[in-house]
Amino acid sequence: MPVSVPALTPLQATLWLTLCGRALDNRLPNPILGDALADEIVRKTDYDYRKLHISPSSAINIAHRARKLDEIAQRFLARHPDAVGLDLGAGLDSRVLRITPPPTADWYDIDFPEVLAARRHLLPKRATPHGIGADLNSPAWLEALPTDRPAVIVADGLIAFFSEEEMISLVNRLIEHFPSGEIAFNGYSKFAIWAQKHAKIAETIRGITKFPGLDDPRDAERWHPKLKLVREILCPREPEVAKFPLGLRLMNRLTAVSASLSRMGNAVFVYRF
Ligand SMILES: C[S@@+](CC[C@H](N)C(=O)[O-])C[C@H]1O[C@@H](n2cnc3c(N)ncnc32)[C@H](O)[C@@H]1O
Repeated sequence: MPVSVPALTPLQATLWLTLCGRALDNRLPNPILGDALADEIVRKTDYDYRKLHISPSSAINIAHRARKLDEIAQRFLARHPDAVGLDLGAGLDSRVLRITPPPTADWYDIDFPEVLAARRHLLPKRATPHGIGADLNSPAWLEALPTDRPAVIVADGLIAFFSEEEMISLVNRLIEHFPSGEIAFNGYSKFAIWAQKHAKIAETIRGITKFPGLDDPRDAERWHPKLKLVREILCPREPEVAKFPLGLRLMNRLTAVSASLSRMGNAVFVYRF
C-alpha cells in the first residue's frame, strides 16, 4: 500500500514539481543528478507525477540546477568546515545526503511546519539534521541559528514565490545575521516568469508566483551593499550537457552561444557577502 501523502497548500505542494523532476531524471539512462531517494519517495507514495506535465527536458533542467547548487554548497563547506549550510524552502529535497558535509558543519533545512512534518514522515531522519518549520518571511526563525559562523545558503526553486520586496528583506536578514557567506539560487528571467503563466508544467504554480524576474544577476547586488555576484552558472554551458539526450544536447549547445538565452533557460547565481 502506498505511503500516505500529507495535505499541503498549493504553495507547499510545489515541492512535488522539483522532487518529481529529480525522480524522473533518476530514471533516465544517464541521470544528471541521480537522486535515487527522490525516486524512492515518488514510488512509495505512488504520487501521480503525470498530472504535473514534467517533460524530460524539464526534469533534466531541475536535476541540473540541483547539481550545481549541490556543488556550490559542497565547495563552500570544504573551504569552511566550521560553516553552517541552509536550504531555504527545502521541500522534500535531501540535499544534505547528496553533499555529505564535513562532520564539523551544520546543515539546516527550512520550510513551512507542514513541510517539515512531511519530511519527517517521508524522508529518513538523517536527511534533516536540523529542521526549522517556519515561514521564511517571518524574522523569528533565524534566531535559532549561530551568528558567528560563515554560511552557505541555497534556495532551489524558491524565489519565484517571493516578491522582490520579500526577497530583499530575506536577504538583508540573512546578511545581517551571519558574518560572511554565499547565497545561491536558481534564477528566473522575466521571460521565464512570463512563460510560467502559460506553460503546461506551470499549471500548479499559476497564480502563486510573485517574483518579477531577474534578467541581469547583477541587479540583485542592489538588494544589500555587501551582496556581490561571484559567479553566474549558465547551465547550457556546463559540462553535464554532454550527458543530455541528443535533441536536448543540441538545443543547449545552440542556447549556450548566447548568455541571455542561456539565462532564460537554466541558470544559477552565486553571491558572496
Ligand atoms: C518548488 S518547491 C522547491 C522545494 C525544494 N527546494 C526542492 O528543490 O525540491 C518550493 C518550496 O519553497 C517552500 N516555500 C515557499 N515559500 C516559502 C516561505 N515563505 N517560507 C518557507 N518555505 C517556503 C515551499 O513550501 C516549497 O517546499
